[in-house]
Amino acid sequence: MAKVIVFGNEKGGSGKTTSAMHTAVTLLKMGYNVAALDLDIRQKSLSTYIENRATTVKSNNLTLAMPICIKLEISDLTYDEIISGMISIYDTACDFIIIDTPGSDTELSRAAHSYADIIVTPINDSFVDIDLLGRCEPSALNVVKPGVYSAMVWEQKIKRAARDKKEVDWVVVRNRISSLDTNNKKNIEVAIGKLSKKFGFRVVRGFGDRVIFKELFLSGLTLHDIGITDKIKLTHSVIAARQELREFVAALAIENRLLDNATC
Ligand SMILES: Nc1ncnc2c1ncn2[C@@H]1O[C@H](COP(=O)(O)OP(=O)(O)O)[C@@H](O)[C@H]1O
Ligand SMILES: [Mg+2]
Repeated sequence: MAKVIVFGNEKGGSGKTTSAMHTAVTLLKMGYNVAALDLDIRQKSLSTYIENRATTVKSNNLTLAMPICIKLEISDLTYDEIISGMISIYDTACDFIIIDTPGSDTELSRAAHSYADIIVTPINDSFVDIDLLGRCEPSALNVVKPGVYSAMVWEQKIKRAARDKKEVDWVVVRNRISSLDTNNKKNIEVAIGKLSKKFGFRVVRGFGDRVIFKELFLSGLTLHDIGITDKIKLTHSVIAARQELREFVAALAIENRLLDNATC
């Protein structure tokens, strides 16, 4: 059975598409079969990222690992039925299904969250982003109420448990972390630790703020593909980013997930 990894956060620009694409290519590199489903039907950034990759492959005569791109078919079925139908088509052929969601609350995104084995939520180091996880009071940064996204994830976790008794592993990954040790950075660390205990997610350090992530989209390349064209150079920042990517994927404990399958 394929494991479903949903990249979600109702905040736009937090890094869902970038981290979804990098996770997909990392898993391909590890030898797994990976399918990708883009539920951001307006911006279609993950689909475009994959299309750009196909164009680069074709025009440079390259061999690059490619995820299977799942075509979203909207029909008269319920959103739940649409998502479960898409998953079931790729369930045996793939090890992982990566689902990217929009930076807003949509019925399709909610349904996808309820089928996730892992939810990955990238957040920027800002209290504007934190507020979607939970409201913190400004003095001791104690959590005073759930944020809209945490409340949605909680509902979908309950739905999933009622459907098949499976637990969802919710991973919050910090993205675009500044290299400077600011007061804001320290406060974010405190707040996120408190939110994590309250709402049951794990926190992963994630990625520094690196220009390379912005450059890669047009060619459809990822940090794994640098060196295959002369357009993107291997710099210290790229090497550090690759290490962050490795650590992030290791934190998802991919091998353990597949062992779950073996014992099912
Ligand atoms: N670690 C990072 N460092 C620098 N820029 C980043 C990083 N992660 C993402 N970005 C950039 O931030 C913007 C939003 O990222 P994106 O993945 O599209 O977010 P989302 O899918 O959540 O809207 C894009 O311009 C992307 O290139
Ligand atoms: Mg996106």
